[in-house]
Amino acid sequence: MYLCTRITLQTKTIIANMKKLFLALSLIAGSITASAQWGRPVDFSAGPGLKDAYKDYFTIGVAVNQTNVTDANQIAIIKKQFNSVTAENDWKPGEIHPKEGVWNFEKADKIANFCRENGIKMRGHCLCWHSQFADWMFVDKKGKPVKKEVFYQRLREHIHTVVNRYKDVVYAWDVVNEAIADDGRSWPGREASPYRQSRHFQLCGDEFIAKAFEFAREADPTGVLIYNDYSTVDPGKRERIYNMVKKMKDAGVPIDGIGMQGHYNIYFPDEELLDKAISRFSELVKIIHVTELDLRTNTETGGQLMFSRGEAKPQAAYMQTLQEDQYARIFRIFRKHKDVIKNVTFWNLSDKDSWLGVNNHPLPFDENFKAKRSLQIIRDFNVALDNHQPKEDFVPNPCNQPGQQYPMVNSEGYARFRVEAPDAKSVIVSLGLGGRGGTVLRKDKDGVWVGTTEGPMDPGFHYYHLTIDGGVFNDPGTHNYFGSCRWESGIEIPAPDQDFYAERTNIPHGNMQKVLFYSKSLGKMQEATVYLPYGYGKLVKGKGGKLTQERYPVLYLQHGWGENETSWPVQGKAGLIMDNLIADGKIKPFIIVMAYGLTNDFKFGSIGRFTAEEFEKVLIDELIPHIDANFLTKTDKWNRAMAGLSMGGMTTKLITLRRPEVFGYWGLLSGGQYAPEEIKDPKAVKYIFEGCGDKENPDGINKSVESLKAAGFNAEGLISEGTAHEFLTWRRCLYVMAQKLFK
Ligand code: XIL
Repeated sequence: MYLCTRITLQTKTIIANMKKLFLALSLIAGSITASAQWGRPVDFSAGPGLKDAYKDYFTIGVAVNQTNVTDANQIAIIKKQFNSVTAENDWKPGEIHPKEGVWNFEKADKIANFCRENGIKMRGHCLCWHSQFADWMFVDKKGKPVKKEVFYQRLREHIHTVVNRYKDVVYAWDVVNEAIADDGRSWPGREASPYRQSRHFQLCGDEFIAKAFEFAREADPTGVLIYNDYSTVDPGKRERIYNMVKKMKDAGVPIDGIGMQGHYNIYFPDEELLDKAISRFSELVKIIHVTELDLRTNTETGGQLMFSRGEAKPQAAYMQTLQEDQYARIFRIFRKHKDVIKNVTFWNLSDKDSWLGVNNHPLPFDENFKAKRSLQIIRDFNVALDNHQPKEDFVPNPCNQPGQQYPMVNSEGYARFRVEAPDAKSVIVSLGLGGRGGTVLRKDKDGVWVGTTEGPMDPGFHYYHLTIDGGVFNDPGTHNYFGSCRWESGIEIPAPDQDFYAERTNIPHGNMQKVLFYSKSLGKMQEATVYLPYGYGKLVKGKGGKLTQERYPVLYLQHGWGENETSWPVQGKAGLIMDNLIADGKIKPFIIVMAYGLTNDFKFGSIGRFTAEEFEKVLIDELIPHIDANFLTKTDKWNRAMAGLSMGGMTTKLITLRRPEVFGYWGLLSGGQYAPEEIKDPKAVKYIFEGCGDKENPDGINKSVESLKAAGFNAEGLISEGTAHEFLTWRRCLYVMAQKLFK
């Protein structure tokens, strides 16, 4: 009941509707399926904490404010997910030491004590920075600039005091922050310099960097001393940082590691830039920390704050996908470099806390501290895929339009896409693994969008589309297939048993005929596709040697929601399945009628009231008489079957139970089950078929088939291996079911 009320909520998009429908269908099926998770609130934080998922890689940190370490719910998130903490602001020199002799330890202590009590180690951020700094160190009591020796003495005292107070709980210090220039160019009135023209630099040159590290080492002989900066993947800045650290290390300055802040966005950086920066720094240091990770929902990057704040507006779905994908890619690179990356810290706990403003949605926890799918994607990485390169035996997909090379599919089931959209900012293919929003393409050297699925796809046929900067389009590479209430692109992944629907050249084939008929009850024309087996209409010898035309049994076979009378014949391959079965002598020929089942006229928000009564009229009072009048059919119920997939299964169940006198064989394909007590007359049906994919609801099917058998019905079930709510499941169902009909 709870679930029924959920699915009566008004929905906004077709996709959301579809997800809800699948949920409803799997409820009919009686238990939860993979796709049934759609539409229901998912707790993405269920499962291990990030720190546990990454225990063999690096520690996972978070930058915290005072509320984060006060609020019970936020504390619980920190304790579950993280094993490293950085104070976002409260340890910065300007906060802790605003005037000579004035120390504000209260907030800093609160965070340190929280970590001490919970056994969490800290990154000390930061000891020397141009921003949020103790600027009093540069001037005397009269406001006159001091000599660098005075500055060093003050800096040393500051560093010693802070380090001594907290070194018991700190494992690494950001000793110097952001000392390198964003671009090394000259400015009017200024020489080109690799260094930021800070007050520190102006007073001391780069010596202040060396001094800060020396002071930190004096105070903490064992802590990891880090140089920290942003835009470290930018090749120019990367080299400036490299050169500075190299120079310092060569001179004996105790720099242990480099901090790559990691203020990135949903488009940038690509894996190559990130990979290069990590590799380059690891030539110099054995320790890299990703100190301040967040991914903005815009094109800004770096340590400057340019984003407007305001009330939280939802993040567009495609941007969410881009962000999830970017997190997945970035962490994959981090994992690749686990020998040198020792820590990855998120800059802030939730979007609400983010220094970038809540509308940037930059973090794995949203503004209500709920985990996002990003968290799950970062956590549930697949080690096998990390180290696997798809086999380079890609060939054009069989669904492609003439002359089109892409999309391509390889022998493992990976799909590769290529889309020309020169001015687009993002291209997403709606096919993704494990409930991911899709495969995000990236521009290659020629400016063409390319990408490969993260892993092998389920075998069989998949609908898909492209989302280009939020707009939905078909892939011009492929033919179109009617699904999701529209003509979608399609791709076919090789299946181990694909021969049963192969287009064989050496056997005779039947025909597909399009039938147009007037529906009086609807007041409009309706369409159906009719499969006529090979040999249909030929004269054969009948009783007493008289030449006559053979008559055939008929299966009425329904499509699912979002589909129509073309779905079974085209992507369902119903005709080929029949041709092959007939040619192999596995079945006697019969006709299949595939009519539009009115499922797309059905309004969401009332699936609980779906009765199929309109279609029952069309089917029984109009279509069947039309078929029987115009085709060579056998017209009694023992020569008539009804089956349907998904919503067509719901339709089938409702109609067969109400009109058992019309159909003698019933089939539900990922479309629910019959309970024995629902069937009033046990003699009403000769054979019941129920099937679904093993990624759907196999238990529901198995239990139902068992109980039907126990009640004396001739029932059969099929669980399709390695498939979900998709056409390979239903092709296999048709293949098995067809062999039992009309016997
Ligand atoms: C940011 C804080 O998150 C903000 O609250 C504050 O207003 C400015 O500083 N690089 C750093 C961090 O090293 O200390 C900065 O933190 C973000 C950029």
